[in-house]
Amino acid sequence: MPHALLRHLTQHNPRMVRGEGIYLFDAAGKRYLDGSSGSSLVCNLGHGEAAVAEAIARQAAVLAYNPFHCSHAEAYLELAEKLVGIAPPGFGRVFAVSSGSEAVENCLKFSRQAHLACGEPGRHLVIGRWQSYHGNTLGALACGGHTGRRKKHVPQLAAAVHIPPAFCYRCPFEKTHPSCGLLCARALESAIHRLGPENVAAFIAEPVVGAALGAVPAPPGYFELVREICTRHGIHFIADEVMCGLGRTGRHFAIDHWGVAPDLIATGKGLGAGYFPMAACLIADGLAAAVEGRGAAFEGVHTCCGHLLGSRVGGLMLERLVERRLAENAARQGARLLSGLREIAGRRPAVGDVRGLGLMAGVEFVRDRETRAPYPPGLRLAERVMDACLERGLIVYPGHGTVEGVAGDHLLLGPPLIIGEEGVDELLAILEEAIAAVERDPEVAALSR
Ligand SMILES: Cc1ncc(COP(=O)(O)O)c(C=O)c1O
Repeated sequence: MPHALLRHLTQHNPRMVRGEGIYLFDAAGKRYLDGSSGSSLVCNLGHGEAAVAEAIARQAAVLAYNPFHCSHAEAYLELAEKLVGIAPPGFGRVFAVSSGSEAVENCLKFSRQAHLACGEPGRHLVIGRWQSYHGNTLGALACGGHTGRRKKHVPQLAAAVHIPPAFCYRCPFEKTHPSCGLLCARALESAIHRLGPENVAAFIAEPVVGAALGAVPAPPGYFELVREICTRHGIHFIADEVMCGLGRTGRHFAIDHWGVAPDLIATGKGLGAGYFPMAACLIADGLAAAVEGRGAAFEGVHTCCGHLLGSRVGGLMLERLVERRLAENAARQGARLLSGLREIAGRRPAVGDVRGLGLMAGVEFVRDRETRAPYPPGLRLAERVMDACLERGLIVYPGHGTVEGVAGDHLLLGPPLIIGEEGVDELLAILEEAIAAVERDPEVAALSR
């Protein structure tokens, strides 16, 4: 057993030694297509990018770190400029940190500090959604609704309120869009009424739910209504784009699909693209002005905020995103991926649903397509499919909890944004073979209808 803590202790993990484009190679020379861009949609530029390594080396040789409390430096200023350049209108400020969880925590703090600055000290509650994920630090975990990851820590979590998710395949209101009247969005207003708007600081949501549900975009009209409700009650809308942002869904920010502007955006993962731990909060001008008014500064600092190596990586990533039109490629290849997944669903009975936006796709497994009954959680079906994929040279990201957070298996797929048609086709072929192999497993077959 290695001393380093690993995620899947019961299984043999390959030892990765090299990466090139959309592929990783293990110590035995075996090649893997990185179908989830690392762990959960991080490595947007692919692996082994010499230009990124050079940018890090150049910056490290000149100045790796500056004292954030009393100075600034070019790399961070440039990163902020580039992020603002692709952000929705009205976003003029950036605060760079080292992880998605930190980005979410700081969005929550910005919201609270803005309400304080505006003379509304009662506004402290955050409304989130069940079956969402905003990070593993305690504040982010509290407003997230990932049952599995929260369970052991519930007594440690700050008060947060959760409304049902916008999840059409298993609609919590047992309705169908659009005749549902978007009850899932209206639930936000009911929650605000019950809590008293004067106590509510913010609503946080992933435009496309990642780890908790497996690439579920909110239906059309959802965020337009959310925006309206938040504005009406003076509540900040935080879009968590840590996974779905920066070109992943075919637009620079996923919320652009709904055409509304949040008050705060958390971004991460793809910003450092796996080359450096990097994340950021984007702050709307009005909020920033409130917090920074009268000479005050935002209260919230971390040892590595605005890190210069991460800033260089992030800057290069954003340059590539724009110059190489990676969002457009994500839209094009994502459409190919989704249509291939739909074909697989037609042939493989264990696939209950496929969904997604751009290069962020999900596959949900069921033991009975008609009733949508999940496999028993103890079977760990998603991990079985992951292992079968790994064996055949494909990396995917498994997840659980589509059924009320306690059952249901899915896979999250999101290859690097540089993938081409051949890569998508290879991914689909391996995935189908792996699913078929798991379906043939006698333990699985005995439970399938
Ligand atoms: C939507 C979302 N928000 C926040 C986070 C937390 O990011 P990190 O793991 O970098 O702290 C994640 C990570 O999976 C995420 O998917």
